[in-house]
Amino acid sequence: MAEKKDENKMEKIVSLCKRRGFVFQGSDIYGGLAGTWDLGPLGVALNNNIKREWWKMFVEGREDMYGLDAAILMNEKVWEASGHTGAGFSDPITECTKCNHRFRADHLENTEVCPDCKGELGEVRNFNLMFETKVGADGSQKSYLRPETAQGIFVNFKNVVDSMSPKMPFGIAQIGKAFRNEIAPREFLFRVREFEQMEIEYFVREEEWKAQFEVWRENILAWFAHIGLKEENLKELEVEESDLAHYSKRTIDFEYNFPGKGFDELAGFAYRTDHDLKNHMEASGTSLEYIDADGSRFIPHVLEPSFGVGRAFIAILSEAYTEDEMGGETRTYLKLPTYLAPNRVAVSPLLKNKPELVEKAREVFTMLKKQFGNVAWDDNGNVGKRYRRQDEIGTPHCVTIDFETLGEEKPELKDTVTVRDRDTGEQQRVAISDLVSVLMQS
Ligand code: GAP
Repeated sequence: MAEKKDENKMEKIVSLCKRRGFVFQGSDIYGGLAGTWDLGPLGVALNNNIKREWWKMFVEGREDMYGLDAAILMNEKVWEASGHTGAGFSDPITECTKCNHRFRADHLENTEVCPDCKGELGEVRNFNLMFETKVGADGSQKSYLRPETAQGIFVNFKNVVDSMSPKMPFGIAQIGKAFRNEIAPREFLFRVREFEQMEIEYFVREEEWKAQFEVWRENILAWFAHIGLKEENLKELEVEESDLAHYSKRTIDFEYNFPGKGFDELAGFAYRTDHDLKNHMEASGTSLEYIDADGSRFIPHVLEPSFGVGRAFIAILSEAYTEDEMGGETRTYLKLPTYLAPNRVAVSPLLKNKPELVEKAREVFTMLKKQFGNVAWDDNGNVGKRYRRQDEIGTPHCVTIDFETLGEEKPELKDTVTVRDRDTGEQQRVAISDLVSVLMQS
């Protein structure tokens, strides 16, 4: 069973995602809407698993972290105070005077000639990435779809401190949608206009930030290892001072070797100083100081690990996507960790037209579904086809109920089933009474 080298891996992943119900083009039947994607039944399962594992690691698994789920729509003053309405959150844009195509000027080698039609490019101007909207029936109140979840955390800093009395240092974590009117959405889920972020604002004393920066760097790498990303596919890029976001004094981009693209940003890790709390304190007139046990007051500084769920989704699929030869045939499978796989296990009767097999298989299916939840029933086609289908969507085990389960041929095998392993294709006979504990070991 030899693994094959991947060519056109990204195209294959995109095609698998559509064919097997992971990701569809947004508004597909109307010709799509650029920069939007919809998650299908298996995609939403994988996406939820990513977010659940992240929450388990960074919130439930720690004593110094607090969860939050702030509203997407916020008072417009939030974005003025954070600096997002200004040039700091704009991209330089230029438009061709002939074909009217628009480009990010900082992505062009020559800002005078259109790369599409060789026409003349117009002046470079700043384009703000926030989607503007209006709140209320008279539309008098301007608002924005949030371009990062982070600001929801900063404006709730006082609420969390007052209600939870956290000790320094501590963090607030949030998972949620963010929106950016990207000039050039591209590369599947990589650069889109509506996406999900998993963000942490970790509040420290100013003098602690350097030591905590190193601790969080390790925490971030531990997360990547947990979701199966190989070290050789990860790189840390120290962002140059001239490229730093308007709020940051130091940033590391964690880059992943995306298939067909090469190394590019998977997650960001920024030292945001006290920029946000200070600005919100000034603009709102509400004190955002932390009061220590000894009565001293200070504005905490902030470390921000920020992860995009969509980019993690592609990286995970890229690591998991495998082609090998099994039984003389090429097969494709997703080598996903059990805790990320959309289906934990699939259950099948050997033949779907034998009521006694179907009945026993339904019993096993119901038992496993009660235990694990994400259990698939698969009785389409023959057993070989079912295995291939479940391999392709990353189901770690397939359980088959056959005549031996019924004890018809060999009474000693009564109430045992076949458990087939996705990665090796090996099969073992397991007593139904042991099935849950055997599956729990993976
Ligand atoms: N609060 C900090 C912040 O938003 P960012 O580097 O702009 O920092 C963080 O974004 C992460 O969000 C990125 O590393 C990426 O994973 C994801 N992300 C940002 N813009 C995105 C887009 N247009 N499409 C998909 N993911 C995006």
